[in-house]
Amino acid sequence: MHNEASHHNKIDLDRIDIYAEPPKEEPARQYYFMAKCREWVREFERKNGRRPFAFTQTFGCQMNARDSEKLAGILENVGYALSETEGQADFVIYNTCTVRDNANQKVYGRLGELNGHKRRNPHMIIALCGCMMQEPAVIEKLQKSYSFVDLIFGTHNLFKFPELLYTVYEMKGMYTMEKRHSMEKRHSMVVDIWKDTDMIVEDLPIVRKYPFKSGINIMFGCNNFCSYCIVPYVRGQERSREPEDIIREIKQLVANGVVEVMLLGQNVNSYGKNLRQPMTFASLLKEVEKIEGLKRIRFMTSHPKDLSDELIDVMKHSTKICRHLHLPLQSGSTRILTRMNRRYTKEQYIDLALRIRREIPDIAITTDIIVGFPGETPEDLEETLDVVRTVKYDNAFTFIYSKRTGTPAASMEDQVPEEQVRQGFDRLLKLVQETAREQIAKYQNCVMEALIEEVNQNDAAMVTGRLSNNTIVHIPGDASMIGRLVQVSLDQCMGFYYLGHLVS
Ligand code: 5AD
Ligand code: SF4
Repeated sequence: MHNEASHHNKIDLDRIDIYAEPPKEEPARQYYFMAKCREWVREFERKNGRRPFAFTQTFGCQMNARDSEKLAGILENVGYALSETEGQADFVIYNTCTVRDNANQKVYGRLGELNGHKRRNPHMIIALCGCMMQEPAVIEKLQKSYSFVDLIFGTHNLFKFPELLYTVYEMKGMYTMEKRHSMEKRHSMVVDIWKDTDMIVEDLPIVRKYPFKSGINIMFGCNNFCSYCIVPYVRGQERSREPEDIIREIKQLVANGVVEVMLLGQNVNSYGKNLRQPMTFASLLKEVEKIEGLKRIRFMTSHPKDLSDELIDVMKHSTKICRHLHLPLQSGSTRILTRMNRRYTKEQYIDLALRIRREIPDIAITTDIIVGFPGETPEDLEETLDVVRTVKYDNAFTFIYSKRTGTPAASMEDQVPEEQVRQGFDRLLKLVQETAREQIAKYQNCVMEALIEEVNQNDAAMVTGRLSNNTIVHIPGDASMIGRLVQVSLDQCMGFYYLGHLVS
């Protein structure tokens, strides 16, 4: 774990007067509550002769992974020791996903287990946050059947975590110094969910998972309303961070040893539209490219309808932007794409993908595909398979359609029979695996640059690196190589990854 020490993060909690009125402005208010929480943590240490342990678990996408780093940053600043074991933790938080129903089911399952731990350790604080918490039906269910949960907040007020944590301490009588906050309290559960927000709170502490690479939020929310997707409802309206804030954060990261950044947004191609001074994603990339010491730039996710020629051009001429583009297809049938509200046709998508392949021949294109969207026929699936054969994806994530309450597709009548979905899914999976294997095998015996990320989990004499095109390569090596960009020879294609060796 790597602690971000940006100039704001260096605010000394001990110098904050915790007996004064809480500040109204952010993030000063949250630093004030962090200082108050720290008092509680010190009291815990005095009583127990050790620091309290905190366990964080992330479900879902890169966006959530980055949010969890913010949670960890706050917990560490408050004085918790971050722990890998859930059962012994004094504080457990799940950062949840709700993009498909099985993500929700996983959380309910894990909560059942956690309840067992809490029976043995009644002082355990259990918190839930993230996308799943933005659904009213989930909150109802948790209040009814999971009353052992202590704290629930959502995606819009993650920055408020210190204040909410303090409220939990107070409510539990663990730490009583001040009058209570006016907040919804049932079964002594603290619940604070915002419907939406236009706020972006900058400069809270962050603990990064990797010292050498980092995600960076460039925008939040989504305005696309694909008819199957719950994200616009749980992540709210689209809002972009100011370019200066993004550049400043990346410069700070680079100063702290980061060589690779991933710019994060639900639809990075519409970055900057709602800024005071509008700016395109391509021009943001040009600015990021200029940052000295930064070696690699990735981004996620691109909507095909908004991918500009300007972006292709910037990628083509860049020496830092990685040779990888994630371009979700969702379906290859124009009829289904229309029902999905994707706003491109099969032909437009193929044209775009092939243009990118022509302009940037060494690029890897990956995608997301949904099978079983309401009304999908075997003929529609054929169209999808046709796009896969034409574009030849380097990797594809395939999903079975999951009905999300509140989305337009959930009330579409012609839901697809399960057996047809299964068959279609299996065919698609087989095809995407074939094309991915072919694509990856093309680099046999090439020498390419890899960023060494970790020691191989199964073989301590090997390390794992990532090529610019996102392919994984395992080479003999040791922990001292982690974070370094090295030239590797790709000796043996193992299907979806390579075995190789270091080229000096
Ligand atoms: N059912 C199945 N897959 C979905 N995705 C989003 N919503 C659903 C849903 N309701 C997939 C899309 C998206 C990826 C992150 O998850 O393919 O690109
Ligand atoms: Fe899941 Fe979407 Fe939330 Fe990411 S933004 S955690 S994919 S629901």
